[in-house]
Amino acid sequence: MSTETSESAALPPTRPSSTPSRRTFIATTSAAGGVIAAGGLVAGPSLLGVEEAVAAEAPPSSRVSLTVNGKRYTVTVDNRTSLLDLLREHLGLTGSKKGCNAGACGACTVLVDGRRVNSCLTLAVRLEGAEVTTVEGLAKGDQLHPLQQAFIDQDAFQCGYCTPGQIVSGVGCMQEGHTGSAEEIREWMSGNICRCGCYVKIVRAVEQASGRK
Ligand code: FES
Ligand code: FES
Repeated sequence: MSTETSESAALPPTRPSSTPSRRTFIATTSAAGGVIAAGGLVAGPSLLGVEEAVAAEAPPSSRVSLTVNGKRYTVTVDNRTSLLDLLREHLGLTGSKKGCNAGACGACTVLVDGRRVNSCLTLAVRLEGAEVTTVEGLAKGDQLHPLQQAFIDQDAFQCGYCTPGQIVSGVGCMQEGHTGSAEEIREWMSGNICRCGCYVKIVRAVEQASGRK
């Protein structure tokens, strides 16, 4: 008697007939999952609830009217939209480049009411009534701006990625009157980074366009 007890204790317990096998467990839970998923799809009120929640979380947007390169635009944009994204993504003006998107490289430089700004750091919705000039707005038809021509003459670029920002910044530098010497130009253009290291020729181009060469 004691021997029988000992042997039966050493054997794996016998599964009761009502305990599901691994296979039936998986089949059952899969089916239940399907029912839950189907329930989610057909449960109109709960789905509407999700849509309402998404709508409630939609970011606020605003209407803004501004002039870009002499053309008036009125757009409705997410309040967080930068001027750079407005120009590139909404107005199709891709001349201004996104380098760092953090105010450190100057590739996105444009003129706002005649002043140089990093468009990546400027909120579009704050520019109601502003006059914006991008690199696309410098030439007059086929006639390049003198600084654009000077960049060509001085071979002041390699990859060209920084060039639109350099040219717009150079135009601002000239309008501000900071072209008294190569050192002054270098100082007032120092916010524009050129990874290709074209600084000497960029300064020469600004000197040429400002009549110093
Ligand atoms: S992209 Fe705006 S400063 Fe670099
Ligand atoms: S020309 Fe290449 S980064 Fe300036």
